[in-house]
Amino acid sequence: MGNLRAEKEKRIEREQGDVNTTPNRKKYWESNLTGQALKVFEMDNRYFLHQALSTPVLNVLSRAHGIYIEDLNGNRYIDMHGNGVHNAGFNNPEIVQAVKNQLDTEMSFCPRRYTNYPAVNLAKKLAEITPGDLCKSLFCPGGSEAIEMAITLAKQVTGNFKTISFWDSFHGAGFAAASVGGEEHFKGGMGPMMPGAMHVEFPNYYRNPWGFEEQHDVDAECLRQIELILKREPQVAAIIGEPISATPVVPSRRYWEGVKALCEEHGVLLIFDEIIEGFGRTGKMFAGEHFVAPDILVLGKSLGGGLVPFAGIVTRKRYDVCPDRSIGHYTHEKNALCAAAALAEIKYIENNKLIEHAAGMGEYAIRRLNDFKEHHPLIGNIAGVGLHLGIDLVRDRKTKERAVDEAEIVMYKCMEKGLAFKTIEGNIITLRPALIISKEEMDRALDILEESIGEVERGILY
Ligand SMILES: Cc1ncc(COP(=O)(O)O)c(C=O)c1O
Repeated sequence: MGNLRAEKEKRIEREQGDVNTTPNRKKYWESNLTGQALKVFEMDNRYFLHQALSTPVLNVLSRAHGIYIEDLNGNRYIDMHGNGVHNAGFNNPEIVQAVKNQLDTEMSFCPRRYTNYPAVNLAKKLAEITPGDLCKSLFCPGGSEAIEMAITLAKQVTGNFKTISFWDSFHGAGFAAASVGGEEHFKGGMGPMMPGAMHVEFPNYYRNPWGFEEQHDVDAECLRQIELILKREPQVAAIIGEPISATPVVPSRRYWEGVKALCEEHGVLLIFDEIIEGFGRTGKMFAGEHFVAPDILVLGKSLGGGLVPFAGIVTRKRYDVCPDRSIGHYTHEKNALCAAAALAEIKYIENNKLIEHAAGMGEYAIRRLNDFKEHHPLIGNIAGVGLHLGIDLVRDRKTKERAVDEAEIVMYKCMEKGLAFKTIEGNIITLRPALIISKEEMDRALDILEESIGEVERGILY
């Protein structure tokens, strides 16, 4: 009984990312936190609320610039996580300058009920660059709140209250966002979550509960389950998902076309959460462009230029139907400083052709990773598109048993060689560098990764 619970906890703990309470984490601290870094670490431990995945922290940073983060001891890491805010690189000088210029205009915070040039220009720019006929924006400070706004709008537009979203997905820590999220981590101990929040399987071609190997079979079963819910559970307001899952799983175009057709048939809105995938990450400006246009697009993270918190939704003109209600009544709804950062981020991505760069660099990295797979039995599967990549580590390619401890050890070994990333679901290494990464830097990162995987395979553990 005790063991079963321990095993269950281990699985739950690792849903979203690497865990900050394992023996390997302790070893990492012991050999990497010294002097001033240890002092700051201990202060952080003392004054912050502890929670899974973030506190106690991994290390103490003094700088984040370009594709790198730097710790207090002067060690530099290529950061392949960046929490998704770093599409244009950390502290991008052009975005920093745009924010400084905006501060100099003395129009930074804009009280609600007023507007300003950067806010209007940003909404106009998003209407121009987002897919389909999306053209009406609403902003807020964070991604979780933007998800809540999208759900609120879908409920108001359809008059329905239920939602369909995906197991294992993450959409934020707020109440509605955690409700549509598919992880126990954010819901356990919370009592009833948002009524009508239902979940289905994401079309995972490598790992699916039915053991299907053909894409077509997986798509058909996943669509059948959605259709079943739509027929038997009337009053669904929205289907909410990331176009490509965070792990990442890249669904077929046929799958999302099928979901969109079901939405249209049943009067349900399709919401794409592109908080991570927007702004070039997948080799398109928005990941939905690989598939279909949503009814509501949710943006965040890199929208703030990697400098300030900013998020929002963009939807169709015909859903502008709530003049008598509040969808998102946020203090920073039209913050001029945040809007200036967002405009500068988009300009930088466009001027420097980061979308094309992400597409090409992603193809190159996938080629190299597939090459590694030939020589490294620990690698079970390579997935992703653009600079949104995942490496599924397994103990056995046949059983696909998740190599959880091995993935954690690979992660700490890489950290000590100058490469930072996050694991997800315990055994999947996710690589999401800044889109400005050069081929030489990508090669360096992949060399470190291969070396570390090889060491673990040879039994050189942590
Ligand atoms: C896909 C996705 N949606 C929503 C969120 C929530 O965004 P925020 O942390 O800004 O609330 C995140 C954050 O990691 C995310 O990755």
